[in-house]
Amino acid sequence: MLACVNTIAMEGVKAVPVEVEVDLSRGLPSLSVVGLADEAVREAKDRIRAALKNSGYKLPTLHITINLAPAHLPKVGSAYDLPMALGLLAAMEQLPLAALSRRLFLGELALDGRLKSITGALPAAIYARNVGIEEIIVPEANGLEAAFVEGVRVVAPANLLALVRHLLGVEPLSPLPVTDWQQWMQEERRPYRNLREVKGQEYARRALEVVAAGGHNLLMSGPPGSGKTLLAQCLPGILPPITLDEALEVTTVHSVAGRLDPLRPFVGVRPFRAPHHTASQVALIGGGGHPRPGEVSLAHRGVLFLDEIPEFGRTALEVLREPLESGDVHISRAAMSTRFPASFQLVAACNPCPCGYFGSTQRSCRCTQLRIEQYRSRLSGPLLDRIDLHVEVPAVPQEVLVAIPQGESSEEVALRVIEARQRQFFRNGIGVCNARLDGLALEHHAGLGEEERALLLKAAQRLGFSARSYNRILKVARTVADLAGAERILSAHLSEAIQYRIGGLFSHD
Ligand SMILES: Nc1ncnc2c1ncn2[C@@H]1O[C@H](COP(=O)(O)OP(=O)(O)OP(=O)(O)O)[C@@H](O)[C@H]1O
Ligand SMILES: [Mg+2]
Repeated sequence: MLACVNTIAMEGVKAVPVEVEVDLSRGLPSLSVVGLADEAVREAKDRIRAALKNSGYKLPTLHITINLAPAHLPKVGSAYDLPMALGLLAAMEQLPLAALSRRLFLGELALDGRLKSITGALPAAIYARNVGIEEIIVPEANGLEAAFVEGVRVVAPANLLALVRHLLGVEPLSPLPVTDWQQWMQEERRPYRNLREVKGQEYARRALEVVAAGGHNLLMSGPPGSGKTLLAQCLPGILPPITLDEALEVTTVHSVAGRLDPLRPFVGVRPFRAPHHTASQVALIGGGGHPRPGEVSLAHRGVLFLDEIPEFGRTALEVLREPLESGDVHISRAAMSTRFPASFQLVAACNPCPCGYFGSTQRSCRCTQLRIEQYRSRLSGPLLDRIDLHVEVPAVPQEVLVAIPQGESSEEVALRVIEARQRQFFRNGIGVCNARLDGLALEHHAGLGEEERALLLKAAQRLGFSARSYNRILKVARTVADLAGAERILSAHLSEAIQYRIGGLFSHD
């Protein structure tokens, strides 16, 4: 008797179909799993045996072959337990084959038959809906997550027996109501720091506004305690609110990473990720035997903050270049290559030297010239080149520190950012920020006049900047002009953009 059960495998954040075939034949009693299954899938045998036994079933004394097809696709993780167990029950004629068709199953089995949570329930439900599967069965803990998807019934049983009774029609389980995530989105609190808290730092605040408006990356350097981390934490709060589509993308990444809260499996705000500099490359970029999204993907559509950036390993920083350029990461493994989305804004912070007080008026620096150079050389040129704004954040003067903060709130700044983005999308195309402009489009949208070109030439001669710097200055100037509501880039906008190019201690050409 041959039984066939639908399930999925994950390719990055996309679910692709997998069929679990179970065959019983005469021969020595044994159970073998074939079809490029990893260790966790092979271990499923023992879990399935125990779960079936503890649910009141006895395995037949026959040769059992379980095939996961297509064979070329790697099958990882424990979500195949449930489809394998059901296939076995059908092959044992404990379940009619018809009960398995037009349904899709995934879940890990505990030894007592309970269904344990799995990753990727949301992309699985999206896949099921897209191919016209009528019902998806996921563990109870993944129910809310799968129920985001309209157009497919979601059933989330607590254990194997409850599911079998449902499939037999003895005690049907009701499908979950579709999660009202528009409502959730409205309720979502934006958990960021507010610019209202920041004292002084007018220059850095302005740079942050430019960064938010144009989708640029930012590097801040300054002594300890000057507010770099605080400023970075303010950035997501002045970005335009996340859209429904973006929230779905972000939630999908977090679903595949297994990082959703079962009671509220939804990311309805722009992520802010701040990995520590001791984080491994896999943690940062993603990967592992069962490829999981890394910090760069968890920050998708939000902010990746790298504090003390020179302390990150050089190779870790080098691999950041790909996502910064393309908005996604490729993780190559022997058996496959996986793509995860990773479109984020990078904010990096560092001290000017190892002791932190180089150039400070408040304390003297104890570092030798050599140590300072070694410290700064840890940041590679190509990475720095992908950061449009380099800004110095000096210590706040004492009289400002003891005064009441005077600056605008994030809400006020966010209004200007939204307007500037609307201007960009109207001109550059929907969703294209100035940071993404290049070549002819950039030159065309800049609309430089004679006077502005003369100013640029003077700056180029004085500072000796390269073609790449020229482009970056133009992009940032375009954003400054958009914030000012100007059609063309004017000299004042250019001057401001040049400041952000030569500011900071890590600028070079
Ligand atoms: N400009 C500021 N306005 C208000 N509070 C500030 C400011 N700068 C620093 N602080 C306060 O001081 C604390 C330390 O600041 P923060 O962590 O942002 O400094 P930092 O520049 O990141 O320092 P480090 O280089 O040590 O990481 C913060 O909790 C913040 O509340
Ligand atoms: Mg800090």
